[in-house]
Amino acid sequence: MDHSKPHPEFYNVPWATDSFNGMPYRSLGRSGLRVSNVGLGTWKIGYPRTGDGARVDEKAAWRIFDRAIECGVTFWDTANRYNGASGNSERIIGRWFRSNPEQRRNVVLATKVFGGMDGRTPNHSGLSRLSIMESVYACLERLQVESVDVLYFHAFDPVTPIEESLAAVEDLMRQDIVRYLAVSNFSVAQLNEYRKASGAFSRCCVLAVQNQFDILNGEGKEHSGVLGCAAKTGVSFVAWSPLARGLLSEKYLEPAKASRGDRLIDEGDLVKVLTPETLATLRRLAVVARELGLTLTQLALAYMLTLPGMGPVIPSATSVEQVEANAAAGKVVLSEAQRRRVRDALAGPGRGRARSGSARPAP
Ligand SMILES: NC(=O)c1ccc[n+]([C@@H]2O[C@H](COP(=O)([O-])OP(=O)(O)OC[C@H]3O[C@@H](n4cnc5c(N)ncnc54)[C@H](OP(=O)(O)O)[C@@H]3O)[C@@H](O)[C@H]2O)c1
Repeated sequence: MDHSKPHPEFYNVPWATDSFNGMPYRSLGRSGLRVSNVGLGTWKIGYPRTGDGARVDEKAAWRIFDRAIECGVTFWDTANRYNGASGNSERIIGRWFRSNPEQRRNVVLATKVFGGMDGRTPNHSGLSRLSIMESVYACLERLQVESVDVLYFHAFDPVTPIEESLAAVEDLMRQDIVRYLAVSNFSVAQLNEYRKASGAFSRCCVLAVQNQFDILNGEGKEHSGVLGCAAKTGVSFVAWSPLARGLLSEKYLEPAKASRGDRLIDEGDLVKVLTPETLATLRRLAVVARELGLTLTQLALAYMLTLPGMGPVIPSATSVEQVEANAAAGKVVLSEAQRRRVRDALAGPGRGRARSGSARPAP
């Protein structure tokens, strides 16, 4: 792009905008950072032939990234350890950025540190100053960027004083190597400890918490109550595995038709997760989705986006078509009556409104 020439397409952009390429944005926590309603999980992007556990190779990933930008899916989620501690998810994103430098500012790039991946000493993992600094420098190298927009702590570190971890990130923020902080796999108590400690820091407050959640299973037991806590405290809850690894899609409605290439078959978990009750719930949800002109996946994502405390959703996609379908869910606005139908479908026949006290999302 020749920056010295006028660009009417930018000049005519309003001073402020709430969307990009048709995708609505929302705030991350109580910050000015805006992220696409639907983001992109990149856990399964890597080099499958190496046995790293990835499902999407580099060529397919680049197509997914190109299309994600076109669909406004610009909140990208990765981690240093993804795919057998190989760093391959970050590495492929980095290679794409190198070829598409003009897209760097369009993407809000989030990565995570904690787990060891390049050594076995006690200092190769955790949230000590040493480990954070070394890990973040390695992330930058793989991602081929100068800064990370959102740095997640991938887990709580019971050994390192919280102040030490926060001070390390604050130093990275002063150098503009990290822009915002978030945490992942935290309990309510751990989140509260961080909220208390971060009072002493000017920039280092936790904007988001990334924990497991999907509308079938709710939050993981160990971390229950975090969504409610997020809603109360203004932290964005970012759900990992929001589609229950693909269970919330049409492909398992006829279990006998699921086959290799479908993630839950490939990962050997379908029998475990697809109980008769779950299948019945999926089928009820599918009926609602069909009547609303949506797919089951889109209904699940659109409904999640209405839950108090819920931030953006970050489903993984294994094809361009999945990115397109997921992006469309970011624009769906469900009425209260439609949300009630989802809750009733989750609750089951004869149970009326969604069960209170269940793991399922609160109305
Ligand atoms: N913080 C953490 O500890 C943590 C842990 C896990 C995940 N995460 C993050 O969360 C992201 C998402 O989690 P996830 O990959 O576990 O699971 P997910 O997003 O719940 O499910 C992804 C799977 O759903 C299927 N899918 C996606 N879009 C679809 C569509 N439009 N129609 C039909 N099927 C569709 C695909 O299955 P097929 O492969 O069968 O096509 C895909 O592999 C990860 O990429 C990662 O960034 C974070």
